[in-house]
Amino acid sequence: MNQPERVPTTLTRVPNRTVPPPLDVVAIRAQFPILAQLSRGKRLAYLDNSATTQKPEAVIQALDHYYRHDNANVHRGLYELAERATGAYERAREVIARFLGAQHDEIVYTRGTTEAINLVARCYVQPRLEPGDEVLVTGMEHHSNIVPWQLVGAKVVAAPVLDDGALDLAAWKKLLNPRVKLAAVVQVSNTLGTVNPVAEMVRAAHARGIPVFVDGAQAVAHMAVDVKAMGADFYAFSAHKVYGPTGFGALYAKRELLEAMPPWHGGGDMIRTVTFEHSTWNDVPYKFEAGTPDIAGAVGTAAALEWLEAVGLDAVHAHETALLDEATRRVAKIPGLRIIGTAPGKAAIISFVMDSAHPQDVGDVLNMEGVAVRTGHHCTMPVMARFCIPGTVRASFGVYNDAADIDQLEHALQTVKRLLG
Ligand code: ALA
Repeated sequence: MNQPERVPTTLTRVPNRTVPPPLDVVAIRAQFPILAQLSRGKRLAYLDNSATTQKPEAVIQALDHYYRHDNANVHRGLYELAERATGAYERAREVIARFLGAQHDEIVYTRGTTEAINLVARCYVQPRLEPGDEVLVTGMEHHSNIVPWQLVGAKVVAAPVLDDGALDLAAWKKLLNPRVKLAAVVQVSNTLGTVNPVAEMVRAAHARGIPVFVDGAQAVAHMAVDVKAMGADFYAFSAHKVYGPTGFGALYAKRELLEAMPPWHGGGDMIRTVTFEHSTWNDVPYKFEAGTPDIAGAVGTAAALEWLEAVGLDAVHAHETALLDEATRRVAKIPGLRIIGTAPGKAAIISFVMDSAHPQDVGDVLNMEGVAVRTGHHCTMPVMARFCIPGTVRASFGVYNDAADIDQLEHALQTVKRLLG
């Protein structure tokens, strides 16, 4: 029998890369005021970074500075404050574009990854959809990379996930066919930690004339991303998962695609002319940005990305990989604990089940020990069905996690064993 095609990982994609200097995690932790507090009377071990990340002083101060000194509406006023607010808002677009390797006018501001996917569904997929047309996804997608395609009437087809949580890449390639209007793939699975070979997938899809949307929500905080090198037609991320504010994110799309797409929401700023009979649209990307936007969100996001760039994504990646290796070794020793998602080169996310306790009960005990993790289906019910489990406990790591967090997680799991068997 043929072996399923293995997924090469982004984490090991750059051969002979120089080893980055180790992170000064003590100095990094000191920049996150929230981490200094106790939780349930214990040191806080924050291990829910896939749900949201904490914010460094650089981001908190950028938000504070914006509201204290620069706040005004953007693209509307001619006075000094309005110029400063508009300048900061558009400068943020430049920062995001540089961070992703894109052009300024290819970045559409959104409320986050979910809204970006809904935008692509409404403005790109829906106008092209014929009965029976498909959006090809993988079996490890977040609900937000499934439901928006269903809402516009596409048939969602999912490629299978292998037992270790890797994508069955050969099966995915076989599903590329003329009915597929878009391939939508998560770069890093929020539940399994699997890193998909998105550049290879884009090449395979493009060879059949199929455009690709990449969900980068769980990737951008953990590895360097270059959308041009990847070749993605669409790419989205959320600021709050990359040390920035909640409620803000961006959609990258190739300029010619944005030009060809109809507007999204109607309102101020997205228009060029309006009469009661007919309206015309602003240039891209403003055509997709109706109403007064989240200006502070853009400013805070730029601060977060610049902060992360200064730390260095190679160093972040090396640090988180070391944490993953050590944490995996330690939790795997707990009797009755099974890790769900062990694909080679996975990101620093450990999902697990314990034979003697429901994930929610494990989460409750961990909470009493000051360990913050997410439990449940993680908005990936199809993954739970694939592995025949009700949910998992998920520990997800970020730049500020350290050896003490792993000690605390291991100790808390031993407490679970003691209390719940
Ligand atoms: N998508 C986020 C998570 O995985 C909320 O927890």
